[in-house]
Amino acid sequence: PEPGWTVHADLVVVGSGVAGLTVALRYAQLAPRARVLVVTKDVLSAGSTRWAQGGIAAVLDPADSAAEHIRDTLTAGAGLCDADAVRLLVTEGPAALRRLIDSGARFDREPGGGLQLGREGGHRRDRIVHAGGDATGAEVQRALVAAVRAAEPAGPGVPGIEVIEHALVLDLLKDAAGAACGVTLHVMGEGARDGVGAVRASAVVLATGGMGQVYAATTNPLVSTGDGVALALRAGAVVSDLEFVQFHPTVLWLGGDSTGQQPLISEAVRGEGAVLIDAGGERFMTGVHELADLAPRDVVAKAIMRRMLETGADHVHLDARHFGEEKWRTRFPTIHAICLEHGIDPVREPIPVAPAAHYASGGVRTGLDGRTAVPGLYACGEVACTGVHGANRLASNSLLEGLVFAERIATSLAAGPPRPGEPVDDGRATGLADPRVRPRLQARMSAGAGVLRGGRSLRDVRQALLDARWTPVAVQPCTEAWETTNLLTVATALVTAAAAREETRGSHWREDFPGPDDTWWLGHLDLSLTEEGL
Ligand code: SIN
Repeated sequence: PEPGWTVHADLVVVGSGVAGLTVALRYAQLAPRARVLVVTKDVLSAGSTRWAQGGIAAVLDPADSAAEHIRDTLTAGAGLCDADAVRLLVTEGPAALRRLIDSGARFDREPGGGLQLGREGGHRRDRIVHAGGDATGAEVQRALVAAVRAAEPAGPGVPGIEVIEHALVLDLLKDAAGAACGVTLHVMGEGARDGVGAVRASAVVLATGGMGQVYAATTNPLVSTGDGVALALRAGAVVSDLEFVQFHPTVLWLGGDSTGQQPLISEAVRGEGAVLIDAGGERFMTGVHELADLAPRDVVAKAIMRRMLETGADHVHLDARHFGEEKWRTRFPTIHAICLEHGIDPVREPIPVAPAAHYASGGVRTGLDGRTAVPGLYACGEVACTGVHGANRLASNSLLEGLVFAERIATSLAAGPPRPGEPVDDGRATGLADPRVRPRLQARMSAGAGVLRGGRSLRDVRQALLDARWTPVAVQPCTEAWETTNLLTVATALVTAAAAREETRGSHWREDFPGPDDTWWLGHLDLSLTEEGL
């Protein structure tokens, strides 16, 4: 659609979680004369970051070492991590965390004043920094939002960080040389900035988060509809590793028909000694992995699925009755309250749990300073594929990735911002999907491309997605239609990659190819959109 209005900035950041807000803040600090614009689909504090429970992994304990955090990350990534990216993540992590503390985030501390360090699946050391017990993301988001609000410009056109809320990004604007020079937006606002508009900027950072809403049951909020990956594909960028969707092993089971965002039961609960049991009360992680209940989450999710298939149950249980009331209330106040809200008292009964979609380990392929294949377009956080997660992300490495790579992007942009030309019309016409297909799409994806997938189920889902594109009805442009279009695009890309990878590795579990195949598959599946499709 033709933009009805245009605003100008030096940098536009799309998304307002840990990655987006950190890029904006750091760029504004490093380039104090710059006008930074943050656009976000909901309000500034919405998005996935605030739902993060566990924490931020960082090597802070003198008994720990970077080499050990690197090893745990590479082990979880099952052969597909980029070793340079992991090294940067781990070695630059503690400084990134310190900057976050300097900008106002308050983490849980020991009586002596040092940061309290917890443990989660796949970590062999205590290295998870947390806040409010199990409300780390909420504290990170609070601190970053406050810092961004404090950096708002004194008036129009002057340096600082301006925010546009309720603004869904549509497409990238490119100049004649193919470089990013802004974005088009649909703003659900009032007055001059209502409707479709354009932001012109020297560089664009995508920090739109994940795509969990392609599935019926997910820990992701409603806004996680893969908008950044879909935009990047339409703009000619490369996306990688989309088949590696992480299913969190312990998501509160609310009944088989429950859809939408589901409450997370943090890995940190197992880090403190909770154990998984089946309907007969039997522990089933001992013997599966040397770390038992604290194995990497792909191992735990698979063991849960196996036990569910063996017993015909649709969930298992997490037993932490031995924590007692006091520990539940102080260490895990959020989870305790969520359980009570759903009629489960974790002090008296085991918590019903099942795996649900949680995190996209893949995304828009970037280099070590966040650059994508399109000049001037950067990606940061869950939307990006920097190579740190490989085939399966290690717990609590995601907020860390957002912090570390946001800093790298801000530093690189401040050192030499791109100078794109005027936007040209590339003649792209995006058809809009009928929003009514959204629940059907989610159900098909969960049934055929979920924790367990096979060649036949993936072919069936792909065909259903292709059929759903050709809607017989005229669709009015609206947020729901654009989101559904994006969901269809990313679901099709995900299923294409999952069908192509004929092996089981990390979080990609093929029933018809039950083992890893290092001869053929120790590499990445890169996808881009051509005239013919994916
Ligand atoms: C959790 O608290 O279990 C989630 C942590 C993560 O996804 O890294």
